[in-house]
Amino acid sequence: MEREKLVFIGGAGNMAGAVIGGLLTSGYPSEQILATGRNNDKLAKFKARTGVEVTTDNAAAASEADVLVLSVKPQMMKDLCTSIASPVRERKPLVITLAAGIPLAAYRRWLGSGVPIVRAMPNTPAQVGAGATGLFAPDGVSAAQRQIAEEMATAVGIAVWVERESGIDQVIAVSGSGPAYFFQFMESMIDAAAKAGMRREDAERLTLQTALGAAKLALSSDVDVAQLKRNVMSPNGTTERAIQRFLSGGLPQLVEEAMRDCATRAAEMARELDT
Ligand SMILES: NC(=O)c1ccc[n+]([C@@H]2O[C@H](COP(=O)([O-])OP(=O)(O)OC[C@H]3O[C@@H](n4cnc5c(N)ncnc54)[C@H](OP(=O)(O)O)[C@@H]3O)[C@@H](O)[C@H]2O)c1
Repeated sequence: MEREKLVFIGGAGNMAGAVIGGLLTSGYPSEQILATGRNNDKLAKFKARTGVEVTTDNAAAASEADVLVLSVKPQMMKDLCTSIASPVRERKPLVITLAAGIPLAAYRRWLGSGVPIVRAMPNTPAQVGAGATGLFAPDGVSAAQRQIAEEMATAVGIAVWVERESGIDQVIAVSGSGPAYFFQFMESMIDAAAKAGMRREDAERLTLQTALGAAKLALSSDVDVAQLKRNVMSPNGTTERAIQRFLSGGLPQLVEEAMRDCATRAAEMARELDT
């Protein structure tokens, strides 16, 4: 990545903080990053931890940006955009928004239509460098700008482009909300093992390591996850008995319905926030 000036609005928050951490680890110079926030104490701690310059003045920060990352909660986005619209219209930085649920049409209304904007949908494992981010760029965002967005996302994991903005709702259903699905599954396994008499601490260690191992194996394997599953199952064995119970209980259909509900809620939120 060229050494553009990167400004993160809400930079000391979880998601922006994770991205900044990834960029610094990958060698991005801290003096080319500026983080904004509302709380001076929080910002001072962030600066002490990262070496990144901080400010509470969003508009002044935006006026310095080559790349402006918006990372406040969706409900706060309209007020924020209104407050920085003037410097953004003037400087026309590449805007990358991390907010769930807000369509590009809303940003165009709030910031002006001539500003290049990329929607990025990261997930919380970005905090440990294992994120999965979906990206969407409309026409008008250049190849070089797309590359900047992609390099920012890959500083904390992997990135996948979607071709239509509605694809971001699918990304939310897969990877945005996905960590919580796996946490739910792990929680259920830990609870079940503890109920069956295993020490909770042991159940937790075995479950988490198994989740990590399964993901690592799947990532490094040439065969798909269905085959990896079959590799664990011997005929009439223990795993087969458990998998049969999942299937007869309707797990695949339940997963499909849950993901559909998630994507539907993402589209609903887009309508609610597009005001
Ligand atoms: N967490 C996820 O899994 C996830 C996944 C994908 C996308 N996202 C998106 O990422 C964005 C940030 O989420 P997050 O989880 O990182 O939230 P967060 O930890 O609350 O971070 C938001 C930060 O923005 C700051 N802030 C609020 N209003 C501000 C303003 N007017 N000016 C400057 N800073 C302001 C907050 O400061 P204070 O603490 O002082 O309020 C906070 O540090 C959201 O839009 C969310 O939809 C999150």
